[in-house]
Amino acid sequence: MRGLSGKVVIVAGGGRGIGAATARRLADEGAHVVIGDLMGDWAREVADDIVAKGGKAVGVDLDGTNAESQAAIVAKAVESYGGLDAYHSNLAGGTEGDVDALNCPVEVLDKSFAINTKSHFLATQAALPKLIERGGGAMIYTSSGAASGGAAWQVAYPMTKNAIHALARHVASKYGKEGVRANVICPGLVLTEAVKQHLTDEYVERGLKAIPHTRLGDPADIAASVAFLASDDGAWVNGQVWHVNGGAQMRD
Ligand SMILES: NC(=O)c1ccc[n+]([C@@H]2O[C@H](COP(=O)([O-])OP(=O)(O)OC[C@H]3O[C@@H](n4cnc5c(N)ncnc54)[C@H](O)[C@@H]3O)[C@@H](O)[C@H]2O)c1
Repeated sequence: MRGLSGKVVIVAGGGRGIGAATARRLADEGAHVVIGDLMGDWAREVADDIVAKGGKAVGVDLDGTNAESQAAIVAKAVESYGGLDAYHSNLAGGTEGDVDALNCPVEVLDKSFAINTKSHFLATQAALPKLIERGGGAMIYTSSGAASGGAAWQVAYPMTKNAIHALARHVASKYGKEGVRANVICPGLVLTEAVKQHLTDEYVERGLKAIPHTRLGDPADIAASVAFLASDDGAWVNGQVWHVNGGAQMRD
């Protein structure tokens, strides 16, 4: 990919799954990667593995819901690699107890909001000044097909994911003239470790039957899209919500 080598990219929620695959892909492309995760040891393990294979990466503790922690990971990127070119705000969680609107406790909504919306806002506040200082850069947010899929079984996750789309459009509109691009990726069903652990074989089989594709998603499928959006090849993509899902939802 053009213009990714030497770029400094933060991957938040990069300790496993889609984030870890993205960190590895970015490093393969020659980017310098700062991996943050609530599970700091996972982040350090991914970073150590990248370094062992000749790449450039560092892993740190990150609580994405905390402004100081977001400021610290941006400071780490600047201290380690001299600046920041892109921030992949990928973390998510807090879906336990998230059911239909009549039965979802407000505490579950608050928790989902903190992890799945507020963290992306705080990431944006921490990263933007450094991107602008650099003459521009990319914010890439991970949302979900659940944001637009009309999930009957849960209310908070889709609500809080949708808010990210508005955030990205705001950032794209307000800071585009300063060289900042902001885009969202909505994965379909991707077979990460967590998905494999928590979903039954029957659910996964149903997921495959429901899409016009030969297979379900691999974390590398999403990593490739993030790498493109962070690279110079993605230079004219701004303010978009991309559904990367094997055709599960076909959207304009
Ligand atoms: N896997 C899928 O099928 C799928 C589908 C649609 C959307 N997504 C989205 O893709 C992203 C990655 O999903 P995944 O399947 O790889 O999930 P995952 O649970 O494997 O990875 C998420 C990572 O975020 C970290 N994290 C959670 N809360 C955090 C916090 N407060 N601060 C820092 N790190 C925190 C976790 O420790 C974990 O390592 C998420 O935003 C998820 O909503 C995934």
